[in-house]
Amino acid sequence: MHKHFLALSDYSKDELLSWIHRAMVLKAEAAAGTPQQQLAGKTACLLFEKPSTRTRVSFEAAMYGLGGQVVFMSARDSQLGRGEPLKDTARVLGRYVHTLVVRTFGQNVVEELAHYAGIPVINALTDLYHPCQVLSDLMTVLEKKKRLDGLQVAWIGDGNNMANTWIEAAAIFGFQLRLACPQGFIPDENILKHALTHAPACIGLSQDPEAAIAGADVVNVDVWASMGQEAEQEARLAHFAGYQLDSPLLAKAKEDAIVLHCLPAHRGEEISEEVLEGPQSVVFDQAENKMHVHKALLEHFILQAA
Ligand code: CP
Ligand code: NVA
Repeated sequence: MHKHFLALSDYSKDELLSWIHRAMVLKAEAAAGTPQQQLAGKTACLLFEKPSTRTRVSFEAAMYGLGGQVVFMSARDSQLGRGEPLKDTARVLGRYVHTLVVRTFGQNVVEELAHYAGIPVINALTDLYHPCQVLSDLMTVLEKKKRLDGLQVAWIGDGNNMANTWIEAAAIFGFQLRLACPQGFIPDENILKHALTHAPACIGLSQDPEAAIAGADVVNVDVWASMGQEAEQEARLAHFAGYQLDSPLLAKAKEDAIVLHCLPAHRGEEISEEVLEGPQSVVFDQAENKMHVHKALLEHFILQAA
């Protein structure tokens, strides 16, 4: 049994589905005003080395909503920013709190923290993965489409941390993921190779947004320059020309296709204003579901460790 939530691929389809279904119950309970106090007396530390609006606030709201408490620490303001080793930080924080929720650059950072902390570590985004986000996205797809089996999902744009995580999700859940990424911006080679070996029918990669989106049930986009790539922003605009999800491109998907974007969005770049604000966009339901999924994850990982 894994103690940490660092990557979707550490878990089975059934385990991931159980957290999504639990998030749906917690969402219904919250709407009904049912008290949720199962994490009373528990504390989460959020250790963030990159900015965040949704993930930070939804984790904090989730923890408080379950009766727990939160300590937020940006790496810049901690001794990590002055060079204190991760392994010391991990062992100290593990004495104070019941879980560490970490947003950072390298996947090796969350792995090292997990190795030393003695408490569950949850990956709240690295350069490689964004597993909490994709779990919330899958919940949103299930709410809207009532199934994952047999769905066609399109990914248009950068082969980034979100694309990598969607590839793992497709291989685990068995739905079809067609990615269109410009040359030089394809997903992580090891993740692609693993998925193509174990679930070859589930993954398609091209440089053709129209081919990727044709007949899709779910259309996914994300920024063209992720956090940490700000210096490349201008240069990337040229590489991603033709990859904007606008109304003519969306018209090639199924008529009832839904549009996902983990946000923040850059209108006029990866997505047009019209599509983001249009009837097929479910981005704010998607953002809400982060909180319910985070509740399910906090509950599972903190209570299993208790
Ligand atoms: N989607 C997401 O992770 O947003 P934040 O960067 O605002 O947390
Ligand atoms: N790919 C984006 C996701 C933001 C939530 C990034 O890493 O910046």
